[in-house]
Amino acid sequence: MKFFAYNVRPDEAPYFEKWQAEHDIEVTLTSDFLTADTVIRAADYNGISALQTIPYDAALFAKMGRLNLPYLALRNVGIDNVDLAAAETHGVKLSNVPAYSPYAIAEFGVLQAMNLRRRTKAIANQQLHGEFHWSPDFMGTEMRHQTVGVVGVGKIGRQAIALYTGLGATVIAFDPSRQGSDAGITYVSNLEILLKQADIVTLHAPGRPENDHLLNAEAFALMKPTTIVINTARGSLVDLNALKRALDTHQIAGAALDAFEDETAEMQQINSHAPFNEPLLADLAKRDNVLLSPHMAFHTETAVTNMVNGSLMSLMAFNQENQAEFELRY
Ligand code: COI
Repeated sequence: MKFFAYNVRPDEAPYFEKWQAEHDIEVTLTSDFLTADTVIRAADYNGISALQTIPYDAALFAKMGRLNLPYLALRNVGIDNVDLAAAETHGVKLSNVPAYSPYAIAEFGVLQAMNLRRRTKAIANQQLHGEFHWSPDFMGTEMRHQTVGVVGVGKIGRQAIALYTGLGATVIAFDPSRQGSDAGITYVSNLEILLKQADIVTLHAPGRPENDHLLNAEAFALMKPTTIVINTARGSLVDLNALKRALDTHQIAGAALDAFEDETAEMQQINSHAPFNEPLLADLAKRDNVLLSPHMAFHTETAVTNMVNGSLMSLMAFNQENQAEFELRY
């Protein structure tokens, strides 16, 4: 048995090497993305491990079908960039790693909310401009006085609720698939109520079509001018043009974004030196009340270990004609 792993970053390589040594299974690593053009390199292998935010498209699955490559194990949870119908048509079995570390993503969201609330970007920027003094603009807000609205109560949303509750915030939640059934979680019956009440709106919903632009102009209009928005989920949940207008008109107070619509290949490439020239993002990046990060909320040692091990264990399970240990759950 031997596997081929795509888009392997330098920080992942040691975890692959450890797994290979422990299981005595060869895993060939490349930093290339998995596409219809690059998949040929995996032709003689028994399974593919991959991680990318650019699409896994129909052409890729057609080629996998032709090459008789039936197993693709994603090293992440989100499947919004996978043409699932094409995978099925061409007989490709998929797995993801549904719970590599909900803590990592939830913690990063809380970190960014606190950064916005305590104005740490403005404090750092002052020093970049050669100054170092107290400013009235640095006055913050304490978590225990905040109402946090958690949108989406899956594994990550639940962890976010636990963290914000631990910090003394009042937490309300909305999830269309869970209505008031969980002990200790205060659900509101619709998104509108949450958006009107929350001081921090934090998104933990999947990138499904029904969630496209969940936060649009109408949604921002419902929020308080002091509210901040945190998106560590999927770019498609937020209409960025509407967000910019809401910031420009002081309908909301700030935003932290870790995921973006149409994420480029460069954003995920560790060696990329492509210029940051997406005009809307470049505009947002200059603001003290906006924090941007390149889809790395997940990036902890624990998460990376589980992502690598989870996908390789799935490939082993597929090959042993077991169900993959980590079936697609989202
Ligand atoms: C996911 O696990 O779906 C993420 O968003 C992480 C990213 C590296 C794709």
